[in-house]
Amino acid sequence: MARKLWLDTDPGFDDWMAWALLEADPQFHLLGVSVVAGNAPLPVTLANALAIRALHGFTTPVFAGCARPLAQPQSTAQDVLGAHGMRSTGPLLPPASHGLSAGHGVQALVDAVRAHPGQVTLLAVGPLTNVATAFALAPELPQLLQALVIMGGSTVGGNATAAAEFNIHADPEAAARVFDSGIPVAMFGLNACRQLAVGDGHVQQLRTLRGEAARIFTGYFDGYVDLARVRGRAAQALYDPTPVVWLARPELFTLQPGRVEIELGGRYTRGMTVCDLRPPARARANAQVALQAQGRPALEWVMERLLALLART
Ligand code: RIB
Ligand code: CA
Repeated sequence: MARKLWLDTDPGFDDWMAWALLEADPQFHLLGVSVVAGNAPLPVTLANALAIRALHGFTTPVFAGCARPLAQPQSTAQDVLGAHGMRSTGPLLPPASHGLSAGHGVQALVDAVRAHPGQVTLLAVGPLTNVATAFALAPELPQLLQALVIMGGSTVGGNATAAAEFNIHADPEAAARVFDSGIPVAMFGLNACRQLAVGDGHVQQLRTLRGEAARIFTGYFDGYVDLARVRGRAAQALYDPTPVVWLARPELFTLQPGRVEIELGGRYTRGMTVCDLRPPARARANAQVALQAQGRPALEWVMERLLALLART
Protein backbone atom coordinates (compact mmCIF):
# COMPACT_ATOMS: atom_id res chain seq x y z
CA MET A 1 0.00 0.00 0.00
CA ALA A 2 1.22 3.48 -0.87
CA ARG A 3 2.55 5.63 1.96
CA LYS A 4 0.03 8.32 2.96
CA LEU A 5 1.50 11.81 3.04
CA TRP A 6 0.42 15.37 3.73
CA LEU A 7 2.56 18.19 2.33
CA ASP A 8 2.80 21.59 4.05
CA THR A 9 4.57 24.01 1.76
CA ASP A 10 5.40 27.60 0.76
CA PRO A 11 6.00 27.35 -3.02
CA GLY A 12 8.92 28.35 -3.98
CA PHE A 13 10.51 26.33 -6.70
CA ASP A 14 12.22 23.78 -4.48
CA ASP A 15 8.78 23.22 -2.92
CA TRP A 16 7.45 22.69 -6.45
CA MET A 17 10.10 20.02 -7.09
CA ALA A 18 9.30 18.27 -3.79
CA TRP A 19 5.58 18.23 -4.60
CA ALA A 20 6.23 16.94 -8.14
CA LEU A 21 8.37 14.10 -6.77
CA LEU A 22 5.61 13.05 -4.37
CA GLU A 23 3.09 13.02 -7.23
CA ALA A 24 5.50 11.22 -9.58
CA ASP A 25 6.17 8.19 -7.40
CA PRO A 26 3.37 5.62 -6.93
CA GLN A 27 4.83 4.60 -3.57
CA PHE A 28 3.37 7.87 -2.22
CA HIS A 29 -0.30 8.77 -1.78
CA LEU A 30 -0.53 12.52 -1.25
CA LEU A 31 -3.71 13.21 0.74
CA GLY A 32 -3.52 16.98 0.61
CA VAL A 33 -1.42 20.11 0.39
CA SER A 34 -1.63 22.96 2.89
CA VAL A 35 0.00 26.21 1.86
CA VAL A 36 1.74 28.58 4.28
CA ALA A 37 3.33 32.02 4.00
CA GLY A 38 7.10 31.79 3.72
CA ASN A 39 9.07 32.33 0.53
CA ALA A 40 6.41 34.93 -0.22
CA PRO A 41 3.16 36.13 1.44
CA LEU A 42 0.32 33.57 1.46
CA PRO A 43 -1.55 35.07 -1.53
CA VAL A 44 1.58 34.50 -3.61
CA THR A 45 2.50 31.04 -2.31
CA LEU A 46 -1.14 29.98 -2.72
CA ALA A 47 -1.34 31.34 -6.27
CA ASN A 48 1.88 29.46 -7.05
CA ALA A 49 0.45 26.24 -5.61
CA LEU A 50 -2.76 26.48 -7.64
CA ALA A 51 -0.81 27.28 -10.80
CA ILE A 52 1.56 24.33 -10.23
CA ARG A 53 -1.42 22.02 -9.63
CA ALA A 54 -3.11 23.17 -12.84
CA LEU A 55 0.05 23.00 -14.95
CA HIS A 56 0.69 19.36 -14.11
CA GLY A 57 -2.94 18.33 -13.84
CA PHE A 58 -2.50 17.26 -10.21
CA THR A 59 -5.76 16.42 -8.41
CA THR A 60 -4.51 16.58 -4.83
CA PRO A 61 -6.64 19.05 -2.84
CA VAL A 62 -4.91 22.34 -2.00
CA PHE A 63 -5.88 24.39 1.06
CA ALA A 64 -4.91 27.88 2.22
CA GLY A 65 -3.19 27.82 5.59
CA CYS A 66 -1.75 30.47 7.88
CA ALA A 67 -0.81 33.89 6.57
CA ARG A 68 1.18 35.14 9.56
CA PRO A 69 3.86 33.77 11.89
CA LEU A 70 2.73 33.04 15.46
CA ALA A 71 4.51 35.84 17.23
CA GLN A 72 6.64 38.01 14.95
CA PRO A 73 6.21 40.20 11.87
CA GLN A 74 6.26 38.30 8.56
CA SER A 75 9.56 37.91 6.75
CA THR A 76 9.82 36.44 3.27
CA ALA A 77 12.56 35.45 0.82
CA GLN A 78 11.31 37.82 -1.89
CA ASP A 79 14.50 39.86 -1.65
CA VAL A 80 16.34 36.82 -3.01
CA LEU A 81 13.60 35.02 -4.96
CA GLY A 82 11.66 37.98 -6.37
CA ALA A 83 8.06 39.11 -5.89
CA HIS A 84 6.63 35.73 -6.97
CA GLY A 85 8.84 33.71 -4.64
CA MET A 86 10.51 32.03 -7.61
CA ARG A 87 12.04 33.19 -10.89
CA SER A 88 12.08 31.75 -14.40
CA THR A 89 14.46 32.24 -17.32
CA GLY A 90 11.66 31.02 -19.59
CA PRO A 91 7.88 31.38 -19.89
CA LEU A 92 5.94 32.26 -16.74
CA LEU A 93 3.68 29.80 -14.93
CA PRO A 94 0.12 30.43 -16.20
CA PRO A 95 -2.07 31.55 -13.26
CA ALA A 96 -4.91 29.24 -12.20
CA SER A 97 -8.23 30.50 -10.86
CA HIS A 98 -9.45 27.06 -9.78
CA GLY A 99 -8.36 24.20 -7.55
CA LEU A 100 -8.61 25.81 -4.12
CA SER A 101 -10.44 23.54 -1.67
CA ALA A 102 -12.77 25.07 0.89
CA GLY A 103 -11.74 25.24 4.50
CA HIS A 104 -8.57 26.18 6.33
CA GLY A 105 -5.48 24.15 5.61
CA VAL A 106 -4.84 23.56 9.30
CA GLN A 107 -8.31 22.03 9.81
CA ALA A 108 -7.89 19.97 6.64
CA LEU A 109 -4.56 18.63 7.94
CA VAL A 110 -6.10 17.76 11.32
CA ASP A 111 -9.08 16.04 9.66
CA ALA A 112 -6.83 13.97 7.35
CA VAL A 113 -4.63 12.75 10.20
CA ARG A 114 -7.64 11.94 12.40
CA ALA A 115 -9.17 9.99 9.48
CA HIS A 116 -6.03 7.84 9.14
CA PRO A 117 -4.61 7.43 12.65
CA GLY A 118 -1.00 6.24 12.68
CA GLN A 119 -0.79 6.21 8.89
CA VAL A 120 0.05 9.74 7.75
CA THR A 121 3.55 11.14 7.31
CA LEU A 122 3.56 14.93 7.52
CA LEU A 123 6.21 16.55 5.34
CA ALA A 124 6.70 20.26 6.07
CA VAL A 125 8.99 22.20 3.74
CA GLY A 126 8.17 25.76 4.78
CA PRO A 127 7.82 27.69 8.01
CA LEU A 128 6.08 25.54 10.65
CA THR A 129 3.17 27.91 11.35
CA ASN A 130 0.48 25.54 9.99
CA VAL A 131 1.97 22.54 11.81
CA ALA A 132 2.23 24.31 15.16
CA THR A 133 -1.30 25.68 14.77
CA ALA A 134 -2.59 22.19 13.98
CA PHE A 135 -0.90 20.81 17.11
CA ALA A 136 -2.52 23.57 19.18
CA LEU A 137 -5.95 22.88 17.62
CA ALA A 138 -5.62 19.10 18.07
CA PRO A 139 -3.20 18.26 20.90
CA GLU A 140 -3.49 14.56 20.11
CA LEU A 141 -2.18 15.07 16.58
CA PRO A 142 1.54 14.40 17.23
CA GLN A 143 0.62 10.97 18.59
CA LEU A 144 -1.64 10.25 15.59
CA LEU A 145 1.05 10.94 12.97
CA GLN A 146 3.13 8.09 11.55
CA ALA A 147 6.07 10.50 11.14
CA LEU A 148 6.97 14.19 10.96
CA VAL A 149 9.64 15.16 8.43
CA ILE A 150 10.84 18.70 7.80
CA MET A 151 13.18 20.63 5.58
CA GLY A 152 14.48 23.18 8.05
CA GLY A 153 17.19 24.10 10.48
CA SER A 154 20.89 23.45 10.23
CA THR A 155 23.87 22.01 12.12
CA VAL A 156 26.27 24.40 10.37
CA GLY A 157 24.87 27.93 10.60
CA GLY A 158 22.11 29.61 8.66
CA ASN A 159 21.06 31.15 5.37
CA ALA A 160 18.47 33.66 6.60
CA THR A 161 21.00 34.90 9.16
CA ALA A 162 24.46 33.72 10.15
CA ALA A 163 22.78 31.39 12.66
CA ALA A 164 19.26 30.61 11.40
CA GLU A 165 17.87 28.70 8.42
CA PHE A 166 14.97 30.43 6.62
CA ASN A 167 12.04 28.10 7.51
CA ILE A 168 12.85 28.19 11.22
CA HIS A 169 13.78 31.87 11.21
CA ALA A 170 10.45 32.78 9.57
CA ASP A 171 8.53 31.45 12.60
CA PRO A 172 10.76 30.37 15.50
CA GLU A 173 7.88 30.08 18.00
CA ALA A 174 6.13 27.64 15.67
CA ALA A 175 9.30 25.60 15.30
CA ALA A 176 9.82 25.51 19.06
CA ARG A 177 6.27 24.16 19.58
CA VAL A 178 6.81 21.50 16.91
CA PHE A 179 10.13 20.28 18.30
CA ASP A 180 8.56 20.18 21.80
CA SER A 181 5.40 18.38 20.64
CA GLY A 182 6.52 14.88 21.59
CA ILE A 183 6.79 13.43 18.08
CA PRO A 184 10.39 12.96 16.88
CA VAL A 185 11.20 15.33 14.01
CA ALA A 186 13.20 13.98 11.08
CA MET A 187 15.15 17.16 10.41
CA PHE A 188 16.75 17.81 7.01
CA GLY A 189 18.76 20.95 7.52
CA LEU A 190 21.03 23.00 5.30
CA ASN A 191 23.96 20.70 6.16
CA ALA A 192 22.22 17.69 4.62
CA CYS A 193 20.43 19.44 1.75
CA ARG A 194 23.65 21.04 0.49
CA GLN A 195 24.96 17.55 -0.31
CA LEU A 196 22.44 17.46 -3.20
CA ALA A 197 23.00 20.26 -5.71
CA VAL A 198 21.88 20.83 -9.30
CA GLY A 199 23.61 22.75 -12.09
CA ASP A 200 23.79 23.31 -15.83
CA GLY A 201 24.03 19.62 -16.64
CA HIS A 202 20.70 18.96 -14.92
CA VAL A 203 19.12 21.87 -16.79
CA GLN A 204 20.32 20.36 -20.07
CA GLN A 205 18.73 17.02 -19.16
CA LEU A 206 15.38 18.77 -18.76
CA ARG A 207 15.81 20.73 -21.97
CA THR A 208 15.65 17.47 -23.93
CA LEU A 209 11.93 17.28 -23.06
CA ARG A 210 9.14 18.56 -25.27
CA GLY A 211 5.77 19.86 -24.05
CA GLU A 212 4.54 23.06 -22.48
CA ALA A 213 4.71 21.87 -18.88
CA ALA A 214 8.31 20.70 -19.33
CA ARG A 215 9.30 24.01 -20.95
CA ILE A 216 7.75 26.05 -18.13
CA PHE A 217 9.18 23.83 -15.37
CA THR A 218 12.65 23.94 -16.96
CA GLY A 219 12.61 27.73 -17.05
CA TYR A 220 11.98 27.85 -13.30
CA PHE A 221 14.56 25.09 -12.73
CA ASP A 222 17.08 27.21 -14.64
CA GLY A 223 16.01 30.23 -12.61
CA TYR A 224 16.66 28.19 -9.47
CA VAL A 225 20.17 27.25 -10.66
CA ASP A 226 20.65 30.96 -11.37
CA LEU A 227 20.57 31.52 -7.59
CA ALA A 228 23.96 29.78 -7.54
CA ARG A 229 25.30 31.25 -10.80
CA VAL A 230 24.85 34.84 -9.63
CA ARG A 231 26.89 33.98 -6.52
CA GLY A 232 29.69 32.45 -8.59
CA ARG A 233 28.75 28.88 -7.68
CA ALA A 234 28.27 26.02 -10.17
CA ALA A 235 25.41 24.28 -8.39
CA GLN A 236 22.37 25.12 -6.22
CA ALA A 237 21.38 23.02 -3.22
CA LEU A 238 18.16 21.04 -3.53
CA TYR A 239 16.50 21.97 -0.24
CA ASP A 240 12.90 20.73 -0.15
CA PRO A 241 13.34 17.65 -2.38
CA THR A 242 15.97 16.21 -0.01
CA PRO A 243 13.56 14.77 2.59
CA VAL A 244 11.45 13.35 -0.25
CA VAL A 245 14.47 11.36 -1.45
CA TRP A 246 14.92 10.07 2.11
CA LEU A 247 11.29 8.94 2.26
CA ALA A 248 11.85 6.95 -0.92
CA ARG A 249 15.47 5.85 -0.45
CA PRO A 250 16.33 6.05 3.28
CA GLU A 251 19.47 3.96 2.74
CA LEU A 252 21.05 6.95 1.00
CA PHE A 253 21.10 8.98 4.21
CA THR A 254 22.58 8.88 7.71
CA LEU A 255 20.51 10.40 10.50
CA GLN A 256 21.51 10.69 14.16
CA PRO A 257 19.30 11.14 17.21
CA GLY A 258 19.80 14.41 19.04
CA ARG A 259 18.22 17.17 21.08
CA VAL A 260 17.24 20.17 18.98
CA GLU A 261 16.30 23.39 20.75
CA ILE A 262 15.07 26.50 18.94
CA GLU A 263 16.75 29.71 20.03
CA LEU A 264 14.07 32.33 20.66
CA GLY A 265 15.92 34.98 22.64
CA GLY A 266 19.31 35.45 21.03
CA ARG A 267 19.92 38.89 19.58
CA TYR A 268 22.06 37.36 16.82
CA THR A 269 20.88 33.74 17.02
CA ARG A 270 17.06 33.87 17.09
CA GLY A 271 15.72 31.01 14.94
CA MET A 272 18.87 28.92 15.30
CA THR A 273 18.44 25.14 15.65
CA VAL A 274 20.80 24.31 18.50
CA CYS A 275 21.57 20.66 17.69
CA ASP A 276 23.02 18.65 20.57
CA LEU A 277 24.31 15.40 19.05
CA ARG A 278 26.47 14.39 22.03
CA PRO A 279 25.70 10.90 23.39
CA PRO A 280 24.01 12.15 26.60
CA ALA A 281 21.63 14.25 24.46
CA ARG A 282 20.35 11.11 22.77
CA ALA A 283 18.49 10.24 25.93
CA ARG A 284 16.52 13.47 25.49
CA ALA A 285 16.36 13.22 21.71
CA ASN A 286 13.44 15.00 20.04
CA ALA A 287 14.82 14.69 16.54
CA GLN A 288 16.59 12.51 14.03
CA VAL A 289 19.08 14.90 12.43
CA ALA A 290 20.19 14.21 8.86
CA LEU A 291 23.97 14.38 8.63
CA GLN A 292 25.12 12.51 5.52
CA ALA A 293 23.62 12.03 2.07
CA GLN A 294 24.86 10.03 -0.92
CA GLY A 295 24.44 12.93 -3.32
CA ARG A 296 24.94 11.21 -6.67
CA PRO A 297 22.35 8.39 -6.33
CA ALA A 298 19.99 10.82 -4.62
CA LEU A 299 20.20 13.25 -7.53
CA GLU A 300 19.78 10.39 -10.02
CA TRP A 301 16.54 9.44 -8.23
CA VAL A 302 15.31 13.04 -8.38
CA MET A 303 16.10 13.57 -12.07
CA GLU A 304 14.66 10.21 -13.14
CA ARG A 305 11.33 11.07 -11.56
CA LEU A 306 11.21 14.66 -12.70
CA LEU A 307 11.96 13.60 -16.27
CA ALA A 308 9.30 10.87 -16.11
CA LEU A 309 6.69 13.23 -14.68
CA LEU A 310 7.42 15.98 -17.20
CA ALA A 311 7.37 13.55 -20.10
CA ARG A 312 3.77 12.68 -19.28
CA THR A 313 2.28 16.01 -18.24
O1 RIB B 1 16.18 27.36 3.68
C1 RIB B 1 15.54 26.71 2.61
C2 RIB B 1 14.05 26.73 2.77
O2 RIB B 1 13.58 28.07 2.71
C3 RIB B 1 13.31 25.99 1.64
O3 RIB B 1 12.14 25.39 2.16
C4 RIB B 1 12.94 27.07 0.68
O4 RIB B 1 11.73 26.76 -0.07
C5 RIB B 1 12.68 28.21 1.61
O5 RIB B 1 11.34 28.07 2.08
CA1 CA C 1 10.02 25.75 1.09
